[in-house]
Amino acid sequence: MFGVFLKSTINMRDKTLKIQIAPSILSADFGKINEEIASIESFADMIHVDVMDGNFVPNITFGPDQVAKMRCKLPMDVHLMIENPENYLERFASAVEKAHGRRDDCYLTVHQESSIHLERLVQQIKGLGMKAAIALNPATPLVTIESLLNDLDMVLIMSVNPGFGGQHFIESVLPKITELRKKMPSLNIQVDGGVNDKTCKQVKDAGANILVAGSYVFSPENRGEAIAKLR
Ligand code: DX5
Ligand code: ZN
Repeated sequence: MFGVFLKSTINMRDKTLKIQIAPSILSADFGKINEEIASIESFADMIHVDVMDGNFVPNITFGPDQVAKMRCKLPMDVHLMIENPENYLERFASAVEKAHGRRDDCYLTVHQESSIHLERLVQQIKGLGMKAAIALNPATPLVTIESLLNDLDMVLIMSVNPGFGGQHFIESVLPKITELRKKMPSLNIQVDGGVNDKTCKQVKDAGANILVAGSYVFSPENRGEAIAKLR
């Protein structure tokens, strides 16, 4: 009886999927962005770059020209919170290659809510030689991308409404992570928004293996220690 209970509650994450930490440079000092990136590179696994266009979300950050000037030893994970992403994929792919030296270990993430031609976007990203991911806003259900899951390298579950760093974690997204992990034991599941040393446990227990954290990593003096606490 107890065994049955345990079986139904254990984390169903494929044990080969390591927990990875992707600090979001949205909370870094943009005036010295390459120093900021260098300050966390020996502790993190990926660099999360939030691209915002002032239309899809009410905030504006970097375009491809700024991304190309970044210097990143770690793989980059470019989260596109923009309308008409199809018009910019090629430029972001070449910007990533300039910043990181290669593109095949980097992700381009597009939002489900930004396009009615998602499958085409995913194929475009792969055709550009990058890993493809789709992000879901907190209110967007998993069923909207179910037919694409086998084509994806990662799904990003937003745990805040995108646009700003430092917002509160929305707990009601946790069942979506659990549901996705049950369906896809080996898929990379990333969670973004309000992740800190308190919320990270719930996120990992639900089955996510890539944690994005902005304000929690960049605010403290000891960024290495902050990252270690998330693992
Ligand atoms: C929000 C961005 C996040 C943001 C997370 O729209 O996509 O990546 O930087 O910031 P924190 O970790 O502070 O919630
Ligand atoms: Zn993000």
